[in-house]
Amino acid sequence: MAAATLSRHVSLAFLLFFSNLLFFLPSPSSSAASPSAIDDFVSCLLSANIPADQVLTPTSTSFISVLTSSVQNARFATSSSSNATSPACIVAASDVAHVQSAVRCGRRHVIRLRVRSGGHDYEGLSYRSLRSDDVFAVLDLARLRAVRVRAGDATAWVESGATLGELYYSIGKSNPGFAFPGGACPTVGVGGYLSGGGIGLMMRKFGLGADNVLDAMLVNADGDVLDRGRMGEDLFWAIRGGGGESFGVVVSWRIKLSMVPSTVTVFNIAKTVSGDGAAVAALAKWENLILQPFMPELTIRVVLQGNTALFQSLYIGGCGRLAASMDAYFPELGMSRSDCNELTWLRAMAFITTGNITAPPEDMLRRTNNLGTSVKSKSDYVRRAIGATAWTSLFTNWLSRNNNGILILEPHGGVVGAVVPDYATPYPHRAGVLYNVQYGVFWWGDDGVNAARRWLDGVYEEMGPLVSSDPREAFVNYRDLEIGENEIGEDGLTTYESGRRWGERYFMGNFRRLAVVKGRVDPGDYFRNEQSIPPLFQSY
Ligand SMILES: Cc1cc2nc3c(=O)[nH]c(=O)nc-3n(C[C@H](O)[C@H](O)[C@H](O)COP(=O)(O)OP(=O)(O)OC[C@H]3O[C@@H](n4cnc5c(N)ncnc54)[C@H](O)[C@@H]3O)c2cc1C
Ligand SMILES: *[C@@H]1O[C@H](CO)[C@@H](O)[C@H](O)[C@H]1NC(C)=O
Ligand SMILES: *[C@@H]1O[C@H](CO)[C@@H](O)[C@H](O)[C@H]1NC(C)=O
Repeated sequence: MAAATLSRHVSLAFLLFFSNLLFFLPSPSSSAASPSAIDDFVSCLLSANIPADQVLTPTSTSFISVLTSSVQNARFATSSSSNATSPACIVAASDVAHVQSAVRCGRRHVIRLRVRSGGHDYEGLSYRSLRSDDVFAVLDLARLRAVRVRAGDATAWVESGATLGELYYSIGKSNPGFAFPGGACPTVGVGGYLSGGGIGLMMRKFGLGADNVLDAMLVNADGDVLDRGRMGEDLFWAIRGGGGESFGVVVSWRIKLSMVPSTVTVFNIAKTVSGDGAAVAALAKWENLILQPFMPELTIRVVLQGNTALFQSLYIGGCGRLAASMDAYFPELGMSRSDCNELTWLRAMAFITTGNITAPPEDMLRRTNNLGTSVKSKSDYVRRAIGATAWTSLFTNWLSRNNNGILILEPHGGVVGAVVPDYATPYPHRAGVLYNVQYGVFWWGDDGVNAARRWLDGVYEEMGPLVSSDPREAFVNYRDLEIGENEIGEDGLTTYESGRRWGERYFMGNFRRLAVVKGRVDPGDYFRNEQSIPPLFQSY
């Protein structure tokens, strides 16, 4: 008791002495354990030499602006609107040693960490908790964002807090012949993207983002920094697709760069569902081409909204060969040479983001948040072509009735599907997968929420019989808490059985191995959220 009281006074003294920004005056009447645990945690961080202006509590003037700096979903912009708990502290780490201190102080004072790189988690799990009694800190890595390209061996070290746009920019500026198979959205954080595997427009040629990770620096539950050699191959396997948060804090990744020609070809073709059924015929052909030995250099992803199917395409090569092949194999798309934009890979990525061929690559460096639009997503994998009747029904019954609903189809096959085995990384949706479907619905304020929910639930139900089953597969990077949430057992650990409900949908046969790795590297279940891997104390 005396020691606790003393440390509390010490921490207050630290706060008042070292920082003008903090007005942290814990009220003695507020609930017993939490305020003093946070108080002690903060004091521990400051005495571990984290600068005071990088340790924020709710009374800090910049707390809200830092908390919302990378929030991408208005559903979670306020804790009251989602019944979730906000952090009691934000640690804005700018050094690996800060990450180590956050873990060590968190363990010592029983404050859990929500690790945040780019903040794009679809359920906001990097900065909110659904447990009302959870007292936690956000460990924000946005300042740990260096990218160091090593042209000599075509690799790069990238820190987790970098965005994909920052990564693309550094790579493309260092050598227009270098690239990386990342996603289409430049504000996504490298940390979360690679933790979940990472799908994108070049995975048919180069594999997932995580397939191209060669090494990593991880701060484990003891606060130690481990590289690949020290962490061992099981843990290195788990962090390349097993989802964020569960195994520790990955502070940086060594990635293999891909070789591309000095220009690649991008084009967008929009087809509408008009009387001639152009969009439906093109979709029905598109899904049948994916597993054909049909140019892994070419990826055509499709965005469906309203009456339109937008075929967004990236070809790692020149227009001449592409146009000839499209003419021969995919005439339904009606692509011609005039659709081609031959650009450096970096400019091509900017085009994919903006749809504008003159958009400067610097546009991809903007770190934006989104506190205006609410979004809810779900995902599926299709292993058997669904056919023209189903496409027609999707447009007639769903897409054309709600312009705020969207489907994004990401083709697999090629290297991601046919070359890398299902167990090579935790990402199991490979052999035989035609494409991933992301369903998204948007709304503003409270008005649209009911209509949005009805739409999303309806389209997801209609697709049920057409998509993978036993399990109905889902993509961990498109996190969906409706497929299941962890339960905590009497021993205080996440139960394996509760994890299986959602975990086997994300990881299929790889879930068990993830749980065994978790049991070995974080047996106390310190790194935890509503969908973290539960520890399993068995061998495989
Ligand atoms: C607009 C948009 C477009 C997207 N496009 C794609 C796409 O093309 N392809 C694709 O694969 N995904 C895509 N996603 C999904 C995206 O990859 C995931 O949401 C990813 O988790 C986001 O990473 P983040 O660092 O921004 O997220 P965060 O919210 O910061 O983190 C996501 C999860 O990972 C954990 N985490 C974050 N950093 C670390 C770390 N360094 N160490 C350990 N755990 C960590 C967090 O605690 C959280 O659980 C998209 C998402 C959005 C919103
Ligand atoms: C918040 O909780 C209340 C009571 O449990 C519930 O009625 C309400 O729907 C919840 N709100 C949200 C946004 O989940
Ligand atoms: C395309 O980008 C350029 C350069 O930023 C800008 O001037 C132009 O207005 C953009 N065009 C469209 C249609 O947005």
